[in-house]
Amino acid sequence: MNAPPLARLAVVISGRGRNLKALHAAIVDGLIPAAIVGVLSNRADAEGLTYAREAGLPTFVVPHVDYADRTAFDAALAETLHGLQPDIVVLAGFMRILTDGFVRAFEGRMLNIHPSLLPRHKGLNTHASALRDGDAEHGATVHFVTPQLDGGPSVIQGKFTIGAHDDVAQLAERVMTEVERKIYPQAVAWMARGELRFEQGRAAFRGRPLIEPLSLDDL
Ligand code: GAR
Repeated sequence: MNAPPLARLAVVISGRGRNLKALHAAIVDGLIPAAIVGVLSNRADAEGLTYAREAGLPTFVVPHVDYADRTAFDAALAETLHGLQPDIVVLAGFMRILTDGFVRAFEGRMLNIHPSLLPRHKGLNTHASALRDGDAEHGATVHFVTPQLDGGPSVIQGKFTIGAHDDVAQLAERVMTEVERKIYPQAVAWMARGELRFEQGRAAFRGRPLIEPLSLDDL
């Protein structure tokens, strides 16, 4: 029997690309049955592009500064994405708010990772917010992207206890190393294998709606 075709993955970044790197490593290790068909960035100087080029991945820069408004930029990004025919669109440190039209075009096949335990701390400055609010725990969430900012159905979370001496920089580092680089490859692997789906506005895992997000501790 032939192996099922690899899922076509488009990864959209704005910055360092550590999640991109973790995803690529998981593909190379055979943990995600997928191929990265494109790495897209809204910033020409994104560090993640250097990694992608060195890894031989196709890269595409769609600079948001070249477009008059959000709608025009999103249309250009969507056109580039459509050209790649992705099965899964992975937002990996992509720091732009997306228009409803863009989200609808990829709804159900677009995931995001957010550096907080959603629904806590949507938007920016999540680590500072967790410290300000005296949270006992912090972490990250993978969720399907819907028009509500950081509000789509959650898939998996990972968390840790905030230490007495943790500052913003330490929290950011812990979120990345202890949580994000583990939960994102796992979530994308489930999507690529068809175990994770978006059905009637909800996340469904192995045929059942997810009432609450899966946990890194359960893996
Ligand atoms: C990650 O911590 C990700 O959760 C966050 O940016 C970082 C990107 O790191 N994303 C957001 O804040 C999205 N609103 P990376 O570029 O090294 O993967």
